[in-house]
Amino acid sequence: MKKGLIIAIDGPAASGKSTSAQLLAKKIGYIYIDTGAMYRACALKAKKLGIDINDEESIRNLLDYIDIRIENNNSKNRILLDGEDVSEDIRADDISALASAISAIPAVRYKMVELQRKMGENGGVIIDGRDIGTFVFPDADVKFFLTANPEIRAKRRWLELQRKGIDKDFSEVLADLIKRDNNDSQRVLAPLKKADDALEIDTSNMTIQEQTDTLYRIIFPRLEEECKCS
Ligand code: CDP
Ligand code: CDP
Repeated sequence: MKKGLIIAIDGPAASGKSTSAQLLAKKIGYIYIDTGAMYRACALKAKKLGIDINDEESIRNLLDYIDIRIENNNSKNRILLDGEDVSEDIRADDISALASAISAIPAVRYKMVELQRKMGENGGVIIDGRDIGTFVFPDADVKFFLTANPEIRAKRRWLELQRKGIDKDFSEVLADLIKRDNNDSQRVLAPLKKADDALEIDTSNMTIQEQTDTLYRIIFPRLEEECKCS
């Protein structure tokens, strides 16, 4: 039985997807599914095993025995890889580029998409990524596509690195982000793309609160409708 809506949030890196998805999920009592974290976990596993990202056969073998789980505990989102909490490790800077490369391998996408569909099939979820509204859940009840200009997104990522005590040139952060946007948009299977029926929101000049309130105002009437129907 369906337990609520499927709310899809797509967009490029640092457009604000996960921040709003987490806040909204807490507010409306939904489960938050961070699909980027799943690709990051795959990349981390390949790195730990010393597998080259271009070695597709070894990557395909790795998928046969990978165990990825997402837990929402006390509004904290944890990602478990083979039973180990890797929530922090998957955020390392090198894992971002590795995740983008590994996510272009069709076998990886099929496996992750299968897991994501299972996690979200009953609804009551907010799920963010690159291909949720176009490929994972093309019939999602509400679809957002967040954007922000590349300099602002890179500034957000640069600030995150500074807060972690990592000193990286802003120009390098910007170049990495643009490269990843290009990889994600140009891959053949399920690229980063706005779904025709997604609502595009430019968060460049929005605070987190403004952005989250904007999304909530759109979701709220749909939640009311859903309550009346069920
Ligand atoms: O999930 P995604 O990569 O799209 O972005 P995020 O992790 O939600 O946001 C990236 C960073 O930008 C975080 O540190 C947010 O706090 C910050 N942010 C912001 O300062 N203003 C916004 N309107 C959205 C996000
Ligand atoms: O937080 P940020 O937006 O920087 O990245 P992420 O959402 O954690 O995703 C990391 C990488 O995983 C992206 O650059 C994509 O290559 C890939 N990804 C994907 O291909 N499809 C998704 N649904 C989510 C992420």
